[in-house]
Amino acid sequence: MTVTTRELLLSRIRDVPDHPIAGVTFKDITPLLADPEAFAALTDELAELCVRHGATKIVGLEARGFILAAPVAVAAKLGFVPVRKAGKLPGATLSQAYELEYGTAEIEVHAEDLLPGDRVMVIDDVLATGGTAEASLELIRRAGAQVAGVAVLMELGFLGGRGRLGPALAGAPLEAL
Ligand code: PRP
Repeated sequence: MTVTTRELLLSRIRDVPDHPIAGVTFKDITPLLADPEAFAALTDELAELCVRHGATKIVGLEARGFILAAPVAVAAKLGFVPVRKAGKLPGATLSQAYELEYGTAEIEVHAEDLLPGDRVMVIDDVLATGGTAEASLELIRRAGAQVAGVAVLMELGFLGGRGRLGPALAGAPLEAL
């Protein structure tokens, strides 16, 4: 990625103090999505990563991950598979629970969407604690598919997601733009 593209993307991410709770600074990507040049540049960068890492399928993580992963799948000419919060998908699913700071969450994928032979790239907006991405990698492996990598726009390094993801990545790349 060129310095100019990186600066463009950074300039379109808005810090919102004390959202959703006091003391948290929320990284708002809606200015980036609203700027066609920035959104196209982000899509191109992520699509290029998917091709470089030999992905044959794209997984997007609900909800903001969908916004990025769908155009990337089109640009890379690959299929898009939604990983959704529990209870949303109508067909037979694989489910994976994971730990949050307080309590647990669960994500699901249609079992027929991930098959042995697929090389899957996971796309999301933010890697924070890594719990969501880690659970998505579990789903991919349990479906018998291979992990091509994880690609995110932003990594919040101070939350340690990269370390948590390490074992599940098992050598596959984690790309944070
Ligand atoms: C956010 C973000 C990632 C996840 C990262 O999703 O979009 O999917 O949290 O956090 P983690 O690395 O600690 O798992 P969230 O479900 O909060 O919101 P969304 O439905 O608006 O995408």
